[in-house]
Amino acid sequence: MRGFLVGFVAALAVLAVLFFSAVKTGQLPARADGAPLPGERWVARTALKAAIAREAPKPPYPYPSSDPEIANGATLYVQNCAVCHGTAHTTPNAIARGLGPIRPPQFARDSVDDDPEGVTYWKIEHGIRFTGMPAYSPALDERSIWALTYFLKRVPKDLPAAANAIWEDPSHVAPPTPMPALPTRPPRRRTAS
Ligand code: HEC
Repeated sequence: MRGFLVGFVAALAVLAVLFFSAVKTGQLPARADGAPLPGERWVARTALKAAIAREAPKPPYPYPSSDPEIANGATLYVQNCAVCHGTAHTTPNAIARGLGPIRPPQFARDSVDDDPEGVTYWKIEHGIRFTGMPAYSPALDERSIWALTYFLKRVPKDLPAAANAIWEDPSHVAPPTPMPALPTRPPRRRTAS
């Protein structure tokens, strides 16, 4: 039993050294324009699904859907999301092309209308780790995130008229209101080299 334990710990130590040298010598992918590692997609997808199953809100949801809320969601979408996810008649721009290894879905084509609202809400609130999908919890309140959720539930084919007008022609939407500056962090201490 003792021999087994020593062997086990030695194997772990070898793996740790191999991993450390892979990181230090740039063998692990650090670029956005490379293919995912074998298994990377599986790990990320499975972890995401499990977290959502545990944490996503279940009905009844706190804010109901209505046509004015969906129109509000359309405006918020143009201000915060269209740069990556596009609108009715756009093609993926430089940002949408360059994000990797997972590109942002273009909702005119890859709609999420089948997903339960709680799942979409969770993704907008918390973002999706290891992808370019930001968390909006630091920027938008709960009601705005529900408005975006209800908008996405109806995109692209089932939008009420006012929201559809914005989705089809987003050019009249004002840019988002600037947010207050983030608190400054104390400068990082540099180690002497
Ligand atoms: C900087 C680019 C970027 C911005 C801005 C962005 N997203 Fe995303 N989003 C992504 C990427 C990349 C993914 C793909 C992640 C994945 O599939 O794991 C994604 C995925 C999603 C998904 C899941 C799609 C699916 O098929 O399950 C939803 C929903 C979503 N975004 C909504 C939004 C909303 C709403 C906003 C604005 C409030 C937004 N995103 C802003 C990059 C972005």
